[in-house]
Amino acid sequence: MEPLEDIKKRAWGDIEKARDAVALELARIKYIGRKGELTEILKSLKGLPVEGRRKLGPRANALRQELEKKIAVALTHLSEIKSKKRIDVTKPGKRISRGHLHPLTLVDAEVRRIFSSMNFSVVEGPEIESEFYNFDALNIPGDHPARDLWDTFWIKKEKRGEESLLLRTHTSPMQIRYMQAHNPPFQIIVPGRVFRYEATDASHAFNFYQVEGLMVGPDVTLANFKFIIEEFFKKFFRTQIDFRFRPSYFPFVEPGLEVDIRLKGGKWLEVMGAGMVHRNVFDAVRYNPDSSAGGVQGFAFGMGLDRLAMIKYNIPDIRLFYSGDIRFIEQF
Ligand code: DAH
Repeated sequence: MEPLEDIKKRAWGDIEKARDAVALELARIKYIGRKGELTEILKSLKGLPVEGRRKLGPRANALRQELEKKIAVALTHLSEIKSKKRIDVTKPGKRISRGHLHPLTLVDAEVRRIFSSMNFSVVEGPEIESEFYNFDALNIPGDHPARDLWDTFWIKKEKRGEESLLLRTHTSPMQIRYMQAHNPPFQIIVPGRVFRYEATDASHAFNFYQVEGLMVGPDVTLANFKFIIEEFFKKFFRTQIDFRFRPSYFPFVEPGLEVDIRLKGGKWLEVMGAGMVHRNVFDAVRYNPDSSAGGVQGFAFGMGLDRLAMIKYNIPDIRLFYSGDIRFIEQF
């Protein structure tokens, strides 16, 4: 390429790329400084024959002027950008939006608050459980048909013969862990996430939330349970609420029951399982189940947080909780 063309092309590139005054100054020195590339050419004009000088001289001088101008323009442009960035302290502020708690978080907090106010302790357990805690210790042995009630996500064993691990299918295993480490009397709740290997629809999700309850002492009865649960519903729904007990079956309680509440339209909806802790469960944690002989008795219950939230906030589909849709969250 012809030398002047070449200089022009590179100089333009350097100026365009310059992000500050220093870079521009460097470009200026490089091309039109005292020893700049273009300056050298201008200097060498003297040694050229007249003919050559006439041809090159005016073009080289024109390029020099063009370069000076271009650098000056770039410099003003840069300082304009800079001054725009200055903070105008007189400008009105931007509104900061505070975000929203997820309805399940709200319900979880409310449940903890209500039970704490009734002197329950709040404890949590692991989401990955062993077969022993999730099933065996809860009176659900391997060949027991009740295992079919819980569709389980099993975790692959690393080695043969290793203990079987799974994603807990309910919060009940924490009953066992707690009783192994504490002596009665006590009353606890265990909120937490649980997992089921099943198809999703408007009322089923493969992960959801439960709250487990357990109260054990020398003379704890279902009458205590009835009072506690009635108090809980009253506080949670902020109104007197109709509920009923129905006999039911869960391997870890005897007798077992289900609790229904009456919705606005008069329809009954099942919200929790409960019962008196089965003696086999007490055996598994080496409590004495004969309350007449100095032993203990107690009630346990388990309810779905998602379902409570759906009733409280009138949410028609459980999948909304897990959709990650901001428009949903922003309503709470
Ligand atoms: N664990 C049961 C479930 O996931 C719920 C339940 C029923 C818990 C009865 C209890 C109980 O503590 O006594 O379906």
